Amino acid sequence: MDTSSSRTRAQDLDREDPLAWARSEFNIPTKAEIASAQLNHPPPVLEAEKSVYLCGNSLGLQPKRTRKRIEQYLDTWAKQGVQGHFKPLEDSDLPTWLDADARAAKLMAPVVGADETEVAVMQTLTANLHLLMSAFYRPDINGTRRHKVILESKAFPSDHFAVETQLRHHGLSAETSMITIKSPSSEDNVLTTDDIKAVISEHASTTALLLLPGIQYYTGQLLDIKTITAFAHEHGIFVIWDLAHAVGNVPLHLHDWDVDAATWCTYKYLNGGPGCIGGLFVHQRNSTVTKSITDEKPEEGYNPRLAGWWGNDKKTRFVMANKFHPVGGAAGFQLSNPSVLDITSLSASLEIFEQAGGVPRLREKSLKLTAFLEELFQEMSPEDKELFRIITPSDPAQRGAQLSVMLAKGILGTVMKELELRGVIIDERKPDVIRVAPAPLYNTYTDCVFFIEAFSAALEVCRTSRP
Ligand SMILES: Cc1ncc(COP(=O)(O)O)c(C=O)c1O
Repeated sequence: MDTSSSRTRAQDLDREDPLAWARSEFNIPTKAEIASAQLNHPPPVLEAEKSVYLCGNSLGLQPKRTRKRIEQYLDTWAKQGVQGHFKPLEDSDLPTWLDADARAAKLMAPVVGADETEVAVMQTLTANLHLLMSAFYRPDINGTRRHKVILESKAFPSDHFAVETQLRHHGLSAETSMITIKSPSSEDNVLTTDDIKAVISEHASTTALLLLPGIQYYTGQLLDIKTITAFAHEHGIFVIWDLAHAVGNVPLHLHDWDVDAATWCTYKYLNGGPGCIGGLFVHQRNSTVTKSITDEKPEEGYNPRLAGWWGNDKKTRFVMANKFHPVGGAAGFQLSNPSVLDITSLSASLEIFEQAGGVPRLREKSLKLTAFLEELFQEMSPEDKELFRIITPSDPAQRGAQLSVMLAKGILGTVMKELELRGVIIDERKPDVIRVAPAPLYNTYTDCVFFIEAFSAALEVCRTSRP
């Protein structure tokens, strides 16, 4: 495959890229590192020694400043012990541990388009889903009025499990109360807004909750969050969004779109690190604390929830009284004191988002980068193109960074092995899909060309090794 003109085009685009500086903020694994079973290798000398990492949809790369921030945190713990909770240090720009969650919420709020009081950095995605459902999924347990939950038929398994077990927790069952949305026309279950509206309309009077992904993990499809939320609201349905693949990837305006609640993880495009602390959004109207809490009716004055001491008003959190008085806003849904190690790691990455001018600026590059990658796929030879098709919508408004590619049956293993041999990291969804995601913070146009060269070589191996 002759990619010389693509290489030249990519080099020009990389030179003109106003975000090019951001790549140097990240540790890009070298080819030697990803091929090795040992941790220690000499640092790379040439850019060409670096791997082609197009996997930010699964695990974002490590910002260089994460190590520095974590060392600062470790020093504080080593030298201040418990005082780290409340004692500001003149030569450290990290917040005290008591304020670490609030500072992280402040950095996170612009990423999701929310007021900082509407965001809490807490727990993990699935745990937050359960917490949100415990607060806002209040089914009529006689099963006559609003008891159903609508979700997509190919929902991420954790979301499916969370809904199914919530139903059982309320004495309901998936058979009677779980409605799954299936595309009537797309074999890949790419859903139109009308497909979703039709299911909402059909079950409008008996549905309590709609749970959808901002970006579908398998197909990479970006849903119209604003329109779908408004439509569900017209039918009196509460909407929770799973933003695992949308956060840090596409601009979000959760407050202005009137989203009820949402949750996300931070290890994908937000580069917080594996299993890092999650995020939660609760719209202002769902989290107000209106009355003073009385002994007679302690539950009045705020939306019900499963509570813990970290959701209590900071002013009385340490009084240690047994009367829960939540702080207003999303912070009132917190349970435990958060892992400051996690928050420190996440905040290091969020600093880069801030420095880059926020997600809308990243999206400008992301749109070009993913379109460039799509073009390269289209320019592949007819023999190569017989072995794959892109299942992510071609409309840029209906996707983020990721392109999902359906391979011909039986070649996934060979493709993945051949890519890895060539220093390319992407991810797979068995049996036949690969997901390729150029992240605008650290990927280049040249990465896309290297990927296509390796992919074409991998397909060639598949062809020659096929019976
Ligand atoms: C769409 C989606 N939902 C939920 C999850 C589960 O996240 P967690 O393990 O952080 O609860 C993931 C994890 O990758 C995901 O991609």
